[in-house]
Amino acid sequence: MNIGIIGCGHMGSAVANALISQQLGKIHISNPIKPRLDTGGHFTWTPDNASTVRASDIIVLAVRPAVIAPVLEEIRPLLKPAQVLISIAAGIPLKKLQKFSGNHKKIVRVMPNLAAQVCEGISVWQATNGCTKEDKKAISSLLNSFGKSIEAANEELIDIATAVGGGGPAYTAAFLESMSNAAINIGFSEEDARLLAMQSVLGSIKYLQKTGMSFEELKNAVQTKGGTTEAGFKVLKNKKWQRTLEKALLTGYKRARKISKW
Ligand SMILES: NC(=O)c1ccc[n+]([C@@H]2O[C@H](COP(=O)([O-])OP(=O)(O)OC[C@H]3O[C@@H](n4cnc5c(N)ncnc54)[C@H](OP(=O)(O)O)[C@@H]3O)[C@@H](O)[C@H]2O)c1
Repeated sequence: MNIGIIGCGHMGSAVANALISQQLGKIHISNPIKPRLDTGGHFTWTPDNASTVRASDIIVLAVRPAVIAPVLEEIRPLLKPAQVLISIAAGIPLKKLQKFSGNHKKIVRVMPNLAAQVCEGISVWQATNGCTKEDKKAISSLLNSFGKSIEAANEELIDIATAVGGGGPAYTAAFLESMSNAAINIGFSEEDARLLAMQSVLGSIKYLQKTGMSFEELKNAVQTKGGTTEAGFKVLKNKKWQRTLEKALLTGYKRARKISKW
């Protein structure tokens, strides 16, 4: 399969690196300058988007949202009905992608996240009705090359995925920062505090994955009666911290909804 990537900055490079290292197909990249990829694998590069479109069965649009309309207007005369267009641009709904592409039938909107750069991303996607089962299989394989993926039941779910999955790395970093700050304040070095916080979170995730425990069960398992975590959680409960976090995520979702209606 020939896969084209239009725009090869942060996300385009992450996608390209994953596809090349997993040998998912022949990779054709168009970007103003030749990208420097981590992988030693083969890809072709051109500054000309038209060449990439002509060479590809699947085309990933990894340009900034503001450049999506001009790029689609540029390539629309070249699009063939069998080609699948995948946009990872934040906030651009399927109906806009269809409009800019001259009502192309096979379009996918994806919300990936930053962790795609280390092949641990989470991508939530939705395809137009023109995409066949076979197309969807190819889309899943492509997205799973840089993490995990979820096909959304409706497009609105992409907006909440933008808040939870897209924003996820930032919320996680804030949580880690607080864990680390607490350790530093009592005397740990920054380096050791970083390790303490990060390994606690990484280990908890792996533990949850291995045991299949619910979040509630793990919270309860760690909080022995009269113990340290239970004492800490009393403070958090008084401050309604989980409800505050959920409100913040809902605010992010509302903002994503507003942006994607433009
Ligand atoms: N970064 C994230 O964490 C993240 C997460 C989810 C979704 N996304 C989405 O991913 C997309 C790309 O984001 P990014 O962070 O990778 O942006 P980026 O680093 O700025 O990459 C965009 C690339 O596209 C190139 N480009 C600009 N105009 C072009 C054109 N007409 N034809 C071909 N290439 C062109 C840019 O080249 P120049 O720099 O030379 O202009 C740049 O290399 C965005 O739509 C964003 O919403 C990003």
